[in-house]
Order: sequence, then C-alpha cells, then structure tokens
Amino acid sequence: MSTVKIGLIGTGFVADLHATAARMVPEAEIAAVASPTPGKAGHFAKEHGIQHAFEDYRELLKLKDIQLVTLALPNHLHAQACLDAAKAGKHVVCEKPLCRTLEEADRMIAACRQAGVLLMYAEELCFAPKYVRAKKLVDEGALGRAFLVKQSEEHFGPHSAWFWDVDKSGGGVLLDMGCHSIEFARWVFGKPRVKSVFASMSTHVHRDKTRGEDHSVCIVEYETGQVGLAENSWAKTGGVDDRCEIYGSSGFTRADLLRGSALLTYSESGYGYAVEKAATTKGYTFTMFEEIWNYGFPQEIAHFARCVQGKETPIETGEDGREVLKIMCAAYESAGTGKRIDWPYEPRKVDKPIDLWRGA
Ligand SMILES: NC(=O)c1ccc[n+]([C@@H]2O[C@H](COP(=O)([O-])OP(=O)(O)OC[C@H]3O[C@@H](n4cnc5c(N)ncnc54)[C@H](O)[C@@H]3O)[C@@H](O)[C@H]2O)c1
Repeated sequence: MSTVKIGLIGTGFVADLHATAARMVPEAEIAAVASPTPGKAGHFAKEHGIQHAFEDYRELLKLKDIQLVTLALPNHLHAQACLDAAKAGKHVVCEKPLCRTLEEADRMIAACRQAGVLLMYAEELCFAPKYVRAKKLVDEGALGRAFLVKQSEEHFGPHSAWFWDVDKSGGGVLLDMGCHSIEFARWVFGKPRVKSVFASMSTHVHRDKTRGEDHSVCIVEYETGQVGLAENSWAKTGGVDDRCEIYGSSGFTRADLLRGSALLTYSESGYGYAVEKAATTKGYTFTMFEEIWNYGFPQEIAHFARCVQGKETPIETGEDGREVLKIMCAAYESAGTGKRIDWPYEPRKVDKPIDLWRGA
C-alpha cells in the first residue's frame, strides 16, 4: 500500500517533532507544510525535504494527494482548521489539547463524522515505548489490579507567547500538560467512566506572564474505583521531567521517561543540548538520546498512517480528546469552588476552561 501523504499545518515546536519523526516512518510522508509567517514554511520545507510549502493552509487543503492533515497550531486555531480539513475530505490528527471548549470539540467530531474522515488525537504518551511497556505489564496482570496511576509532566514554562495568553491557550499548565497526564492514566485503566474530579491549582512563579495556573494537581476517580493523579508544572526548574507510577494490588512499576534512560553527564564547559527546556548543560546533567523516539512520536505517526490505510483502528480519537477536555473543565470548576465535581457533569458554557476557575 502506498505511503500516506501528510499535510502539516504549523512550523513551530511540535511541527518540527512531527517532521523529524515522520522521516523515521515508512508508512508516512509529510508532503506539504503551511505557516502564515512569510518565508517560514519554505524554510521549514527545505530543512525537512518537504515538497510543497504554503502561507495559507487552505491552499494545502486543495492538494488532492494529501490524505491526512496534522494540526500543529496554537489551541485556539484547532477547531476551525479541523472543520476546514474535514470539509476538504482529509483525515485529521489534532495535537493536544483537542481544543478549548466542548462545543468546539462537538463541532470537530461532527464535521469529521459527516465527512467520513478520521479525527485522531495526538497523545504521544500512549506511544512512548517505556509507557507502552508499563501498560503491557498492567494488561498482563503483572501488578495485580491497577488501582492508582500517578503521572507528571513538568518544566519551567512553555516556549511561545500564545501559551501564556489564556484567550488563545484556554488555560495554564493543566490544559497544556495535565491533558497528557489525565489521558495517560485513563488509557492505562482501559478508559473507564469518570465518577468525580477534584483539583487544586495556583500561579506560584509566573504571575507577571499569565493568568493561567503554573502548578496543578488533579485527582480523577473512575466508576471502577481506580484513581488517576495528574500533577503538572510550569514552575519546576531543571528541564522537562516526565514520569509515572502505577500501583496495583500485587505489584508496582515506576517509569521515568527521560531521566530514567538518560546519560548522567558532568561537564565543566557545557555542551549543545541535554534535554527539552534544560536551562543549562554545565555541571551534572541528564543527556537524552533518541528523544523523539522515546516520546513515541514516530510510533504515533506510524499508527495514525496505518489507520488511514485501514489497517488499524485509532487508539486515540477526537472523543478521547473531548473526554479529557471535559475532565479538565471539571478540574477548573473544582479549583474554583473548592469542591469535588461529581458525574454526571455538564460544564457551564464558557469561552475557555480557565473561566470556570478564575471567571472571564
Ligand atoms: N504532544 C506534545 O508533546 C506537544 C508539545 C508541544 C506542543 N503541543 C501542542 O501543539 C500545538 C502547537 O504547539 P507548538 O509548541 O508547536 O507552538 P509554537 O508556537 O511553537 O508553533 C505554533 C505554530 O503555529 C503556526 N500558526 C499560527 N497560526 C497559523 C495559521 N493560521 N496557519 C498555519 N500555521 C499557523 C505558527 O506559525 C507556528 O509555526 C499546541 O496545541 C500545543 O499544545 C504538543
């Protein structure tokens, strides 16, 4: 079967990861890229060997041989780009978080369904080899019955201005990185139904930059009695940290995605690159290798390409992204009211999840 041709919308941080990862995947090829910044798409295309470059992504959507479009855009642009892609008959991979409101999520899901295209949710932790191994341990009963999953993804804050602007991002670290942790636990447990959500969040370090929270703790209880604990930070120094612990009735496993398999390096002069968002490479550092592979990006792209070829069924979908967003809405509401939010739950209609905590 022929290679799936992908159109990449965006040329920023995550687009670069997708473009690099796609080169490791025989099933997929990024054939076009779009970015509104003059010259950016052309430069990106040259760097990654991509055939077509556009300033307006709607031109990319006109290319007949593009089957799948990856949305690597700021959060406030996901919904419209998804609707446009679906209308053009393209399958869609949407970066996390799916979007900012459940209404947007519903429109995205409905548009893809109506157009007969797939809407796939890019939660790469479900493809990270070490985390996949952890889930396999759970599935084969190595830990007995898994009852608690703790997941943390943390660093000292994002790289682009729009993340800090809650009108564009929709919220702070919970929305940005809590979405990873929440979906990781949900996936490990086999996606049971939610019973309740409790959360605490605050802005400890970056009040000068954002109305968004820079540290959050969110507890999700499932109907099965299992518990997911997501702790996330934009206020933690020392480079990105990503880890999980899984407790079972007769076993336990812990995975440190980055430092657990990094080199422990001591350097007096410093060196080029240690790990994402590391502030220094002098002294003792954790030196990552095969970072994109360890994060699961090539494996994610390969899976989504095989879904387009009809060989596999997406393990992460628009519906999953919506459920994570709903849990996060409840978390913001819990932080705002100080109360546990019980299911069934329908969030108040707001422009962005953070309004449920801080008001508009
Ligand atoms: N899965 C992950 O681990 C991960 C990591 C980082 C970011 N993300 C997600 O990916 C998305 C993008 O984040 P990022 O870090 O790459 O942001 P970024 O700021 O680095 O890049 C955003 C890109 O969007 C482009 N853009 C803006 N408006 C556009 C438009 N109208 N048409 C085409 N391109 C446009 C910008 O030019 C830029 O290239 C966000 O939703 C973010 O949450 C996911």
